[in-house]
Amino acid sequence: MITYHNNLFVIEMKNSSYVFTGGDTPVSVYWGGKLHGDELGYLVRKREPSSFDPDLDRNREEYGFWDSYSVLESCLKVSYPSTRQLNMRFQDYTIQTEGDRETLTLRFQNSDTPLTAELIYEVYPAFDIIERSMRLTNEGDTAVIENLKSAAVSIPPQANYRVRYLSGKWAGESHIDDHELTSGAFTIQSRTGNTGPHFNPAFALDNGTADEKSGNVWFGLLGYSGNWQITFERTTFQDVRITGGISSFDFSYTLRKGESIRTPVMTVGFTAGGYGAMSRTLHAYEIRHILPVRKTGRVLYNSWEATSFAVCADGQKELARRAASIGVELFVIDDGWFGQRHSDRAGLGDWYVNQEKFPNGLAGLIEYVRHLGMDFGIWVEPESVNPDSDLYRRHPDWVYRFGNREPMQARNQYTLNISKPEVKQFILDFMTKLLGENQDITFVKWDMNKTLTDVSAGDTGKDKELWYRHAETLYEIWAELRRRFPHVEFETCSGGGSRVDLGILRYADQCWPSDNTDAYSRLSIQEGFSHFYAPRIMTAWVTDASVGDDKKYERPYSYRFHSAMMGMLGIGADISRFKEKDLEVFADYIAQYKEMRQTVQYGRQYRLSSLRKSPLHAVEYVSEDGQDIVIFAFHQGFCYDAAEPRIYPDGLQPEAVYQVEGMEERLHGSTLMNAGLETGMCGDFDSRMIRIKRIHS
Ligand code: DGJ
Repeated sequence: MITYHNNLFVIEMKNSSYVFTGGDTPVSVYWGGKLHGDELGYLVRKREPSSFDPDLDRNREEYGFWDSYSVLESCLKVSYPSTRQLNMRFQDYTIQTEGDRETLTLRFQNSDTPLTAELIYEVYPAFDIIERSMRLTNEGDTAVIENLKSAAVSIPPQANYRVRYLSGKWAGESHIDDHELTSGAFTIQSRTGNTGPHFNPAFALDNGTADEKSGNVWFGLLGYSGNWQITFERTTFQDVRITGGISSFDFSYTLRKGESIRTPVMTVGFTAGGYGAMSRTLHAYEIRHILPVRKTGRVLYNSWEATSFAVCADGQKELARRAASIGVELFVIDDGWFGQRHSDRAGLGDWYVNQEKFPNGLAGLIEYVRHLGMDFGIWVEPESVNPDSDLYRRHPDWVYRFGNREPMQARNQYTLNISKPEVKQFILDFMTKLLGENQDITFVKWDMNKTLTDVSAGDTGKDKELWYRHAETLYEIWAELRRRFPHVEFETCSGGGSRVDLGILRYADQCWPSDNTDAYSRLSIQEGFSHFYAPRIMTAWVTDASVGDDKKYERPYSYRFHSAMMGMLGIGADISRFKEKDLEVFADYIAQYKEMRQTVQYGRQYRLSSLRKSPLHAVEYVSEDGQDIVIFAFHQGFCYDAAEPRIYPDGLQPEAVYQVEGMEERLHGSTLMNAGLETGMCGDFDSRMIRIKRIHS
């Protein structure tokens, strides 16, 4: 419930309260575990330790309109030819309720120019989550925005906060980092024009004592796939404030008369239940409020690691035949099917079917796949072009570049300026042709293998808008394609996991978290990923990645499958080389996955044990109705002196009775959770899938 009383806005959610003052400069009063909103008067006293600190309370501003004064990160900075000073005055507010969402909108008006800002709080009380954003509307002279953030949030003053966030690189995404927040500022960001592998726009803060099961955790995610920035600041007065939004780096945006701009959404939340509860809240929120549809994720086969660019009709048919025989539901042809795409050096941008590889076009292959009882999916990378392509030869002016300079290449490609109307139209046209002519394509993997560089269209006035326009145009294209082809599902991929965020996930059904498909490496990548993103969107393939030529480090099939079954199972191995007995093993695991995937994809996830702390890695999933439980446990290396790893299930009803598969005894939830289970694991790269059923509550 949202109320406004005695100059205080109070947002009461299921287990938390969020309180700030009204007036021209709303200031955070409190955010955390639930309290009585009417007892907060004592927190609203003005702090004036010295005349050298003119307005300390502004260190806790809900949104920093830059008016000439700011000690911390500001949120909005606007320039006119005659002034850079904003003078925003509070006008009014509205509260609306729609379904399970309440929306509070505060409206501010600049006193010198007709510029209006609306601070928007979309509240999901059941999740203890607020979506923050700002909409700016200009009814006057052209204004140049130089800094545009979504929101600022403050958390209770404390000295020893720890920031948890995900860092990474190509093939090593979603690494969990903990950073002690001392006084000063700490920033995570992307300047690569996409979400980026180096940091993900997601964070959690606790006072250094929270763990998986307990402790206060404040968390947030920025839904944005362009250049972004999240800054954590702690002042010497112990104010702790987090500001997030579009990166100010090389950014400016011209807002003309009659135009509006809305910032990306910054989702923030609180839990007293530690990191585990944070993740479960986010998973459920994403499934209910972010993802475009709720559908059971299909088991897919992807050709990339088997064939690389050497795709051809016969080879794909052979893979498809085998994929169907093991129970795959969706066959996806990856890179290499179009133009003169025989390697990453040529053909990108030429979106016609390569006739030498597919003499009967794609239709023959699609029909074959459909005939085998599978759906068909296809890979595209529409934002990029190889210099060696017909598209580039025809339209060298379509790529970002400074003047006549040769743009930087990565993976032998340039980036298209998709915000040019003709480029956007080209992408919409070829995608519409591809999906329109092949109605049986029901899945698109949309890749992007180059960070944005040379971001210029030769107009210095507008160049600094291009980063923003790229991300916005991408969303527009995806929204339009989803509208035109509602039966098609989309996967977001960017050289692995460089485009995973709540912005693109409003259009995507799933994402590809990493090009690293080694089952052991994946355990850590998936653990980081699961902190902020649901298993339902995490594709994981069983591949040959861990099979060295000398087979020294081969992971067993069981280990590879168990690792990939913890999300959206896919197969990426070269199954054309497989013997019948290997295919039988694959078929068996896929059948097992289909039986429990509802629990993994839509259940509650508990991280029981982490490789960061022990050689035992274990993750549990409890179905939405609590009836089905599945635990995946992994043990890495055998030691003579080590005790057999034991796991302690979580999230069971203490008084309910459960049956562990393979055990004679029926046990109460309390027994299982307190006394634990033996796993019987002892070998190198050993793993178990333990299934438990609730017999009665
Ligand atoms: C990078 C992706 O992450 C891979 O899965 C694959 O699709 C290649 N690109 C294809 O070029």
